Amino acid sequence: MPPPRLRTNPLLVTGVLVRPATRADADHVTELIADTPGGTPDLGLKRHRLPYFSPVFLRDNEVGNRVARHLTRGEQVLDYGAGTGLISRWLAGAIGIRPTLADLVEYGNRRRDFPFLKMEDPFHVPAPDGAFDVVLLLFVLHHNPYEAQSKVLAEAARLAARRLIVLEDTPRSRLDLVFNVFWDKVLNLRHRIPTPFTFRSVEEWPAVFMGHGLEAVHVETYRPKWPTLATYHHTLFVLEHE
Ligand SMILES: C[S@@+](CC[C@H](N)C(=O)[O-])C[C@H]1O[C@@H](n2cnc3c(N)ncnc32)[C@H](O)[C@@H]1O
Repeated sequence: MPPPRLRTNPLLVTGVLVRPATRADADHVTELIADTPGGTPDLGLKRHRLPYFSPVFLRDNEVGNRVARHLTRGEQVLDYGAGTGLISRWLAGAIGIRPTLADLVEYGNRRRDFPFLKMEDPFHVPAPDGAFDVVLLLFVLHHNPYEAQSKVLAEAARLAARRLIVLEDTPRSRLDLVFNVFWDKVLNLRHRIPTPFTFRSVEEWPAVFMGHGLEAVHVETYRPKWPTLATYHHTLFVLEHE
């Protein structure tokens, strides 16, 4: 059962600013890569090795550009539900974060550049409280039943010293939802990731975050081009401890 819809818009109640990304912001990380011809030296990632024109890279580039604006060079970042770790690799190469990957599944094509924490329990990452500056939950929560999303968030909040960055599918209309269900099924078939279609709207999420003492300091909703061809919305939430 989806949770009941809120009568008021919590984005307005909490005074959270909803603003779209600007083109200038989006170009910032691309400039950073251009200014660092050898890649990030400590990671040894080479600019010329990034697969610029592959469809996968187009998605990494689009997601990476939006997430990177809320990260700082040198930060220890936990990628909770990292999948193959490609977004973390993009972020490490672009801005020099230090990622640790964690997932329930060990993908054969996972990036081997970074430490990996294999999770046995979906609600526990084996690391101490506040072990990471930032925790990423990128397209993870809607792969969990509604009642489990809170447990994942509680664990992410425990681990994050500074902030959490959540990216979620947030369909805004029935047509959005039809496309979202279609793409979610198709994109996750190969890895057999569960798809319970437990999406929430952009208005519903902040109340869930507040239940964990997390305040949304930045929210942006947009239609991603890759790979879902702008057929439904994503929302990025930057969360900090209240
Ligand atoms: C759609 S993939 C996204 C992967 C990656 N974050 C990205 O954006 O490229 C979702 C991933 O989250 C993982 N996942 C879902 N729920 C999880 C949980 N409770 N604990 C750990 N991993 C989880 C799945 O195994 C899968 O690898």
